[in-house]
Amino acid sequence: MKKRMNRLVAWAGVLALWAGAAQAAELPRVVRTQGASQLIVDGKPYVIFGGELGNSSAGTEAQADVILPRLAALHVNTVLMPVAWDQLEPREGSYDFRLLDHWIDVARAQHMHLVLLWFGSWKNSFSEYAPGWVKADVRRFPRVRGIDGAPLEILSTFGEETLRLDAKAFAALMAHLRAQDKQQIVLMVQVENEVGVLGERRDRSEPANRAFNADVPASLVQALQARRHAMTPELAAHFNPKGHTWKDVFGDAADEVFMAWRYATYIDAVAAAGKAQYALPMYLNVQLPAPQERAGEYPSGGSHPYFQQVYQAVASHIDFYSPDIYWPEFAYWVQRYQALGNPVFVPEARLEAGPYNALYLYGEARGFGFSPFDIDSLPAPGNDAASSPLLMQVYGELRDLGDMLPTAQADGRTRGLVLHATSPRPTQTVALGGYLFEGTLSRSWPARTLETQDGAMLVLQSSPDEFYLVGTGLTVNIRRDPDVDTRVAGIDSIEEVSRQGDTWQTLRRLNGDQSNQGRQLMMDPHNAHVYRVRVHAIER
Ligand code: DGJ
Repeated sequence: MKKRMNRLVAWAGVLALWAGAAQAAELPRVVRTQGASQLIVDGKPYVIFGGELGNSSAGTEAQADVILPRLAALHVNTVLMPVAWDQLEPREGSYDFRLLDHWIDVARAQHMHLVLLWFGSWKNSFSEYAPGWVKADVRRFPRVRGIDGAPLEILSTFGEETLRLDAKAFAALMAHLRAQDKQQIVLMVQVENEVGVLGERRDRSEPANRAFNADVPASLVQALQARRHAMTPELAAHFNPKGHTWKDVFGDAADEVFMAWRYATYIDAVAAAGKAQYALPMYLNVQLPAPQERAGEYPSGGSHPYFQQVYQAVASHIDFYSPDIYWPEFAYWVQRYQALGNPVFVPEARLEAGPYNALYLYGEARGFGFSPFDIDSLPAPGNDAASSPLLMQVYGELRDLGDMLPTAQADGRTRGLVLHATSPRPTQTVALGGYLFEGTLSRSWPARTLETQDGAMLVLQSSPDEFYLVGTGLTVNIRRDPDVDTRVAGIDSIEEVSRQGDTWQTLRRLNGDQSNQGRQLMMDPHNAHVYRVRVHAIER
């Protein structure tokens, strides 16, 4: 009997080990469920409260020791960090992973994750991060040529050796991760960074001219034809499937579309080589065009929404596309990416506007990740929440929501809005669960002067008559949604709450002057909090 038991225990052990191995083998993946975006890690949705490091912040091991603990204390759970080709492969064929391994070790110790940015052939158009032995050999690794024939500091997409060696180095990186990063500290990889030709609209090297004067590949025309019903207006305005040459088919946009095709083809080959080793989610970022800018003033051929469908037609190893949003129209750009079928993940954005746009992204766009740029420039946390960076407050409170957040995102039980003093209208309203939440920027009483220039909130419905609002800088009126019924809404209670372990603790009950006599939620104009609001609806 004892022997049998022992055998059973041994088998149970083997099974457990096998289950553990099977679990670890499940790779992170990105899914869209009913309009929400999720990154699934270890079988569960994982929300990235992220930040991208400054370009010169991840070049030494010592920087990891200082920066990552500080960011962890700021409630950042995922850091986007560059991996530079020149540091990874200082001599051809000899790879050095020590720096990356150290960053992964420190991230693991801090219970953080990483997203790697492969600065290979291109970073912001240019090829600064390619190794010296690549940059010095323009015969083997040709450059983009300008209209005057002069070489630019941009590697040409027509460089066959460049592509071969970039892909080889990227594959070595991914193979190394597969072998070393058993705990999956690295969740995703961005392939190259903000590519495109700057200063010219297209590469005018000899092979580029030859390809440009030849016919557009039939496969590309067909793939775009198949998307015709949902084509972006910018592409539709130029697309003539009956033409042959690039100029015939894409008219005035030919130079840029040609470059988009070239970059998409090249980057897809790099991504394919990496995925063959270790199939983490891979995405592309882009510098977005400003209004009135012409291609070449912004990088020509990047994966911005106007011509992103060219990438989608070609780059089957790229899982999704993401915008770097430095322009004021944050919601506009997020929506353009959603319209193209992308999950919502913003790898770079203006840090100052971060606390507000984060609430829009998680609440309204139901995205899985936000990551303002230059995150390591944030000051260390203060002694209390009020003296800590606002982004830290927002991330801390959103993290307090725990699983409630991704579950509610997937169920369509979150909304969000952002207001600035410069917004075209002073109020904005979102509807959720039969109620309207109308936000305006906080004003003083009785003078009614603006107390803040910016405000934002995420609204999460936790039960039919209970809502959690994470936000700052707004006064919120709550009304019954007349599209739902004719009842009249009232507020039962407003509490400022905070999560302690598994339970919510009430820090303050807000009433009297702090709720305008029970009629409004009046948020702190300068700091972010979680407010729990209970409401009722009575018959007329
Ligand atoms: C966008 C780039 O992707 C980043 O690496 C950085 O250069 C920022 N611009 C700077 O604003």
